[in-house]
Formats: sequence, C-alpha cells, structure tokens
Amino acid sequence: MTVPRPHIASMAPYSLARLAPPDGVPLISLSQNESLRPPSPKAVEAAAAVLGNGMLYPDPDWSELREVLGQQHGVNPNGILCGNGSLDLIGCIARVFSGPGRSVLAPAHAYPFFRSAAQMSGARFDIAPERGTTVSIDTLLNGVAPDTGVVFLANPGNPTGTRIPQAELRRLRDNLRHDILLVVDEAYGEFADPLNETNFDMVQEGNTVVLRTFSKAYGMAGFRVGWGLFPERIAAELRKVMNPNNISAAAQAAAVAAVLDHDYMRETCRITAALRDDAATALTKAGFSLTDSFTNFLLIDMGDPESAQQADEAMRDKGIFLRPQGGAGLPHMLRMTVGAKHDNETAISSLIKWKTETR
Ligand SMILES: Cc1ncc(COP(=O)(O)O)c(C=O)c1O
Repeated sequence: MTVPRPHIASMAPYSLARLAPPDGVPLISLSQNESLRPPSPKAVEAAAAVLGNGMLYPDPDWSELREVLGQQHGVNPNGILCGNGSLDLIGCIARVFSGPGRSVLAPAHAYPFFRSAAQMSGARFDIAPERGTTVSIDTLLNGVAPDTGVVFLANPGNPTGTRIPQAELRRLRDNLRHDILLVVDEAYGEFADPLNETNFDMVQEGNTVVLRTFSKAYGMAGFRVGWGLFPERIAAELRKVMNPNNISAAAQAAAVAAVLDHDYMRETCRITAALRDDAATALTKAGFSLTDSFTNFLLIDMGDPESAQQADEAMRDKGIFLRPQGGAGLPHMLRMTVGAKHDNETAISSLIKWKTETR
C-alpha cells in the first residue's frame, strides 16, 4: 500500500466553507470574505477578449500585470511575483523557507492557511498569544525560536479584522533576526488603505515580503490572482518552485484591466465600508460584541463555543452561512462577510431572533 509522508498523514484537511442550504432555501453566503460587488466590467471584458487565444499558454512572467502593479504602487516590477491566488505564494514561501528542521511562527488567531502551509512543508508551527484579537508584537518576538525560519501575519488580520500600526510592524522587523523571513499578508490591505500606511517600503530592507490579492477588494476571487512584493534575491528562489504557468491568460488580462480601473476598486471599498459600519452598528445595538474591523467582514463574539455553534446551525437552517472560527482558535466567534445590504439585514435579523429566542 502506498503511504503518504508522515507529516502529511498527520495533517487535518483544510476546513472548507460548507455551502449547502436546505432544499428549496436560497443560499446567503457570508462565509468566504468574497466581494459584494462583481469584478470591474472592464476586467470581465478584458478576460472575454482573450478567450479565443485559449490554445496558447499564458505569460509565465506576468509581464504586463507586473508592469501595471509596479506603476500603480510605485514599486519595482522586478520584485513582483504573481500567484494563483495569494495561497499559491504562501505555499511556495513555506516550501522554500520552512520545512523539516525549521519552524514557522504566527499570531494565535492568524489565517489558518499559514498553519497548513507550514505543516505541508514539514515544519513545526508555533503560535504567539494575541491581546484579545489584536496581534502582539511583544509575544511574537518572545515566540521566536532558534529554528524559526518564517513569521507569517495578516494585516489586517483574518478572521480578527484588526490591524497592526505601521510603527509596530517596523518594531517587529527591527527586532527579528535577519535570517527570519517576515511575510505581511495584506489580503485586505485595500480596505484598510484610507490611512495610507503602505508597508511596501519594508521590502527594500530585505527579508520582508508583502502579499496582496485580487480576491477581495477587486472582487475577483474566482479568477485566482494574487501577488507579492519580494526582495529580488528571494523572488529568484521562489520562482524555482512555482508552477511556471500558474495564472490563466484570462485571469491575467482581467487583473491588468482591474488595476487600471482603480476607481472601481476604491468605490467597492467605500460601499463595503459603509455597509460594514451599518451592520456593526445594528449588531452592537442588539447587544453583540464585535472587534473593530478594517476589512470586508465582522467578527462577532457569541459568548461561548456552544452558543456560536448553535447560532451557526440555526443560521444554516435558514440558508445563511457565516464562518465558525474554531480553526483560528476562536470557537466562541462567528465571522460574517459584509454582503449586499439585503443579505446583511437578513443575517442580522436572524441572529437577533436567535439571541432573543435562546436568552
Ligand atoms: C489573510 C488571507 N490571505 C490569503 C487569502 C487567500 O487569498 P487568495 O484568494 O488570493 O488565495 C485569504 C482569503 O480569504 C486571506 O484571508
């Protein structure tokens, strides 16, 4: 019998969103932090325009996409790598910089895929306690071990929604050993950007990577495009392990058009923030406690794990899918993606009904 390698056999499968409403009940999915708006019409048009060339392999160097991203963000296109979603890049980083004999460190309530990527590589995964749901730079620094190879964190965090001030992030980098790669995953960076605290310049100092994605603010989760800014030396190593044809031609064309239609993305962020704040106000008024969110989702404290599970099940029965957070060490919390106004209102009134009936 064939057997997997022991570090794979001991892994739990990645917890996927379960989106099966009862028969005849319409689905309201607020579970995957997808955008409430479709991609820019210009992105859809650009993707459609290249479909007829589907017999050709896509650009393995993502030249046009790197060029427009470099211009948009004022960064060197040579330091940009594009991934089949940022998950692709996270996996490649773990493959190159962690593995047997090395460990990966992340905040306790970090994005669960950091753990998966570390485990897939055969590395130990260490966590540093947070202050509630806010990353603590001090505990991260205390959590560094002699074999730490990579520190992963998302800023803003998923599922926490909280953000790390730029000065704190710099304090982390300044106090980490130089041989540790710091990965700052800014999947929700566009939503938090109004404060204009971009961390791209940290990359120039070496040993820091900043990741972004088209899956959230650009509304393109189904296209699978992520990117990152890397020190060139690190980018060269990563290219060795990447699938050389990782992003379809249609997805690359759509991403280029989406970057150029910057206003559409900014509008998505504005609409999302307004609906998020309305939803937060309604939930708080109903007695739920929430963390401050700089993203397109809210993290709702249900008091205890049993209540979170019961509320989640009651919502599922109505076809409303939120996301339980046991996998991120927060079993008493439910995460609600900010959706269309009507879907948010339906979800919130169902949560309030559940609360009234069970208390
Ligand atoms: C923090 C974080 N990083 C990465 C991802 C994955 O993004 P992508 O769709 O680009 O693979 C997500 C998706 O939810 C996320 O929340």
